[in-house]
Amino acid sequence: MFTPCIFLTLFLGVVQSQFPRSCTTSSALESKTCCPLWTDDSPCGSQSGRGECRNVVVFTPLAAGRVRQYDDDRLDWPRFYYESTCKCFGNYSGYNCGQCKYGYTGDKCERQNTVIRKEIRQLSFLERKKFFSYLALAKTTKSTDYVILTTGDRHHRDTYRFVDASIYDIFAWIHYYSMKPILENGTFDASFNYAHQGPAFPGWHRLGLMFLEREIQLLTGDENFGIPYYDWRGENNCSICSNELLGESNEQGFLDDGSHFAFWKSICSGYNYADAYCQTAGDKCQMERLHRKPGSDPRVKRFPSFQDVEDTLKWKDFDRFPYDSTSRRSFRNALEGFLKPSDGLTLERSMHNAVHVYFGGTMSQVPISSNDPIFLLHHSYVDKIFEAWLQRYNATPDKYPNNDEDGQGPNECATPYFPCYRNKDFLTSCSNFGYKYSKYQEM
Ligand SMILES: *[C@@H]1O[C@H](CO)[C@@H](O)[C@H](O)[C@H]1NC(C)=O
Ligand SMILES: *[C@@H]1O[C@H](CO)[C@@H](O)[C@H](O)[C@H]1NC(C)=O
Ligand SMILES: *[C@@H]1O[C@H](CO)[C@@H](O)[C@H](O)[C@H]1NC(C)=O
Repeated sequence: MFTPCIFLTLFLGVVQSQFPRSCTTSSALESKTCCPLWTDDSPCGSQSGRGECRNVVVFTPLAAGRVRQYDDDRLDWPRFYYESTCKCFGNYSGYNCGQCKYGYTGDKCERQNTVIRKEIRQLSFLERKKFFSYLALAKTTKSTDYVILTTGDRHHRDTYRFVDASIYDIFAWIHYYSMKPILENGTFDASFNYAHQGPAFPGWHRLGLMFLEREIQLLTGDENFGIPYYDWRGENNCSICSNELLGESNEQGFLDDGSHFAFWKSICSGYNYADAYCQTAGDKCQMERLHRKPGSDPRVKRFPSFQDVEDTLKWKDFDRFPYDSTSRRSFRNALEGFLKPSDGLTLERSMHNAVHVYFGGTMSQVPISSNDPIFLLHHSYVDKIFEAWLQRYNATPDKYPNNDEDGQGPNECATPYFPCYRNKDFLTSCSNFGYKYSKYQEM
């Protein structure tokens, strides 16, 4: 039933992305400049010493083992769209240097702030209530800072069309967009992407959660908000899939009417639909309620065990050649879940990937899985394992490998975020980004 949409999309060559709203004016697009005025009326707050507008530094992918001719708009992000962006100084950050670096707060970003991410079952009644109401607010509040690009032809500026989206949907879309097939010589290749199947995977998802966590902190004024995690080790079934927590599923597999997210709609319900909100593609592409069928997929009958997590952590190399889904003895590939953690050699579904499949429904279609908020809890736990590995081996950015996966080089920008965060810079403890994990079940 989804097939017609997929074909349509491949032929139209559709692109969608999220952009700073103030960088989507025709003058910004024509001049390829994304240096918005800050409140002092200077680009990037330069009058106030917050930052400056400068040419995008082009980071050449180091290993050019696979020589390719790219048409893809995301390569060398964000150069296709912008040649000048803000470079922020000191503790300032953000697409316009109007925000603080992760972990800093205050008007001059002079104060450090650390939030604790807790296991969802450790939250007090009040903390839980806050979590669900904050998410409801993020799902329904239009983002003032960002818009989504939806257009039929990525090569012609005149055809770009930008649409509003809620804060949660901007987040969901960033993930979706990173996974769209890559355009090469006029055809699309879906076999690799910018956020998965390579060394960028843990850091890319870390940034995604930090982005949403910060947006929710700003939206609610609650600087102490941290995204909870779901420690699924050894679970026999999804014990948090109750209506008090992440929601039960009904017989059709949709979230139960009595659950918090029952009436949430996915920004897109299929793999690669043509329009941001599927408004133009007719009945076939309507936005759908979230669905989930934990434990019903015969391919994955259980969550990863305590031992699986221990085994994953024993691989001391962050990643190994060929730096993709076939890498062996690679912590990253075991964590991502293409590799059996215990032997580090057998290529089989495990860990992160297995949990996506276990949940079924929206979560099992990885590109759109970010629509289901259980994605946040799952990835927060994956990030906790990443953090345990970083601490165990005292990892530093120089351990991030050169590789020729698209957009996954150490010095390339995590695609498609604004501003630029280099992939290698995530190989550092999360306390440097202003958050920590609670202890739960001895980890
Ligand atoms: C950034 O914040 C830290 C910690 O509060 C502070 O010591 C430092 O001076 C700040 N840096 C700048 C450049 O303002
Ligand atoms: C794309 O085009 C380049 C240059 O013409 C060529 O070298 C390369 O093999 C092509 N790639 C594919 C996948 O067709
Ligand atoms: C989930 O597993 C627990 C034991 O681990 C059991 O008590 C509970 O009944 C199970 N729930 C469902 C819905 O199967």
